Amino acid sequence: MENHLNTKSLLANVPTDLLYQALETEKGGVQIYATALRCAINNDLKEEWNKYLQQTKNHVQEVTNILKGLGLDPNAETPGRKVVRYIGTSLVKAMELALRCADPQAAQIVAAECVTLAETKDHLNWELIGELKQKLEPAEAALLKPAYEQVEDEEDEHLYHTTGWTRELWIQALGMPAVLPPPEEVKKVETAIEAAKAKESRAPKAKAKKSTAR
Ligand SMILES: [Fe+2]
Ligand SMILES: [Fe+2]
Repeated sequence: MENHLNTKSLLANVPTDLLYQALETEKGGVQIYATALRCAINNDLKEEWNKYLQQTKNHVQEVTNILKGLGLDPNAETPGRKVVRYIGTSLVKAMELALRCADPQAAQIVAAECVTLAETKDHLNWELIGELKQKLEPAEAALLKPAYEQVEDEEDEHLYHTTGWTRELWIQALGMPAVLPPPEEVKKVETAIEAAKAKESRAPKAKAKKSTAR
């Protein structure tokens, strides 16, 4: 019985590509946050994205370590990661376009949308890594577990909080009372159910803002 990690049989093809896609998503995330920060005007949002940028840099390291631990070359190219890189570069270019052509408020919204798109993929990757972990041999699962447990909570925050920011920045631009920072951030939402509840709670808050504005 072999006791070394038999990555060829257990992490061949699709599971391996998921890890490479996860690494590429995190690397793209670093570029996306760096560009999004150039678009951000709201100070609370800048603070939030700065925190996420630091966490994303750490995620790059975590996935690199997992790949190395499985005996895989983090620099190896796969068709899947190529596509992820293309999307990441496109999101950066979209924000750069907005910085050149749009007004600052609109560029900030473009950045929030780009971060939400990137974090949707990032969140999905880690959700799938969580699923994969349950199917693996104990030695491989042990390699994924510590990173998964730390990163997964951060990914919930990245996605749900930024989704809230995007919605409220749009509402503000439409000339309606926005709830900033969004309830998702104030309530420190970490699950889809909490995010739905936080979203629901915005109506009375927006109403209160409207009446105090009168
Ligand atoms: Fe991440
Ligand atoms: Fe993330």
